[in-house]
Amino acid sequence: MRGEPRRAGAWTQLLTESMLFIKNASQLARLNAEQDSFAVIESAGVVLDDDHIAWVGPSDRMPSPPPDATVIDASGKTVIPGLIDSHTHLVFAGTREEEFEDRLRGLSYQEIAARGGGINSTVRLVRESSRSELKELARDRLRRLLSFGVTTIEVKSGYGLSVPDESKCLEVLADLNAEGPWDLVPTFLGAHAVPPEYSRDHEGYLSLLTDQMLPEIARCGLARFCDVFCDVGAFTLVETEEVLAAARRLGFGLKLHADELSPLGGAELAARMGAISADHLLCITEAGIDALARSQTVATLLPGTAFFLGMQYAPARKLLERGVRVALASDCNPGTCPTENLPLIGAMACTQMKMLPSEVLAALTLNAATAIGCADRVGSIEVGKQADLVICDVANYRQLFYHFGVNHAWRVIKRGRVVYTA
Ligand code: NIG
Ligand code: FE
Repeated sequence: MRGEPRRAGAWTQLLTESMLFIKNASQLARLNAEQDSFAVIESAGVVLDDDHIAWVGPSDRMPSPPPDATVIDASGKTVIPGLIDSHTHLVFAGTREEEFEDRLRGLSYQEIAARGGGINSTVRLVRESSRSELKELARDRLRRLLSFGVTTIEVKSGYGLSVPDESKCLEVLADLNAEGPWDLVPTFLGAHAVPPEYSRDHEGYLSLLTDQMLPEIARCGLARFCDVFCDVGAFTLVETEEVLAAARRLGFGLKLHADELSPLGGAELAARMGAISADHLLCITEAGIDALARSQTVATLLPGTAFFLGMQYAPARKLLERGVRVALASDCNPGTCPTENLPLIGAMACTQMKMLPSEVLAALTLNAATAIGCADRVGSIEVGKQADLVICDVANYRQLFYHFGVNHAWRVIKRGRVVYTA
């Protein structure tokens, strides 16, 4: 958390010019980072002092606002922490609806990639795009995410696949992060595919990754995490370990596209290497579940991808029952999940993976924050934490996923400022 947690006792010192009082919310899902629990307050209020949360509790015990404070009456509405999308690939150019149709006619994702489509077709367009074109496209997607109540977003590179093009994409992200109002967490995914110029020299591309790209990205401080697409047609388990080990030596946190299309043992590798998250897991084995259960690695599930590819869903219940921390994310990308509707992903998690609405909300907030290393700052509504929250036009949090496919965000608040109004 930032500085000393502020408590109601210190109230008189809190009054600043930019206070926001939200009162009479029918429910507030606060979550609790320390106890790692899901907590709901009925008839609740919350006070934001500048960019942090200063007070939260039952409305009838809420301190009275100073004359210059802004007061929002949230009667009939539900307050939740700002949603966190902990896995996206949203810096890209172009669209891939022809492949979508090819898949509907029976081709598989991997068959399309082997014919030169898939990730490498987006790589061609990204390489041809300027920084400002990429920035405009990514900004549109971020605005759409924000409109659904998503205030913190992890974004991967991975459609450049050369030193200058990967740097270009990560610099676009750095600019967009500075622009705000969102918080962006950048991940280097140079090991997303082998680019066409290295199609006959995988070893050469691995050397480029470990000896040039990773050191350059580290030197410029452009990414916090390094991710690898470990799968048939992408990178083998041995290659994945080589890239992740090099990344770890340079100080990157580790993430992994694990067991997405085939059960290669990515979950076991993620656990063994102390990765912060293992993502996808549609094909995870019992041994993979065991490995995650013994580790601190978060299982980040992306049901939108299973939905869009028409594949089986990850075994969320098994993971939860074994005590694995589960996050949910969109995977927003042009190939396997072109959507920014994160609450819809939550509804899919309920109906397709049998996650309960409380588990889904935790997976989209506190657990997602853990999966990108910022649970000390965001992911729950607690005194001292950053003032990121969403006032939803529903009477309780269950309705967020029950009344599915529509946007319930009524006000989105980032660092204490209203940044989206329905
Ligand atoms: O997470 N699996 C690798 N990456 C993306 C798909 C990227 C693409 O098809 O453009 C994913 O599914
Ligand atoms: Fe992905």
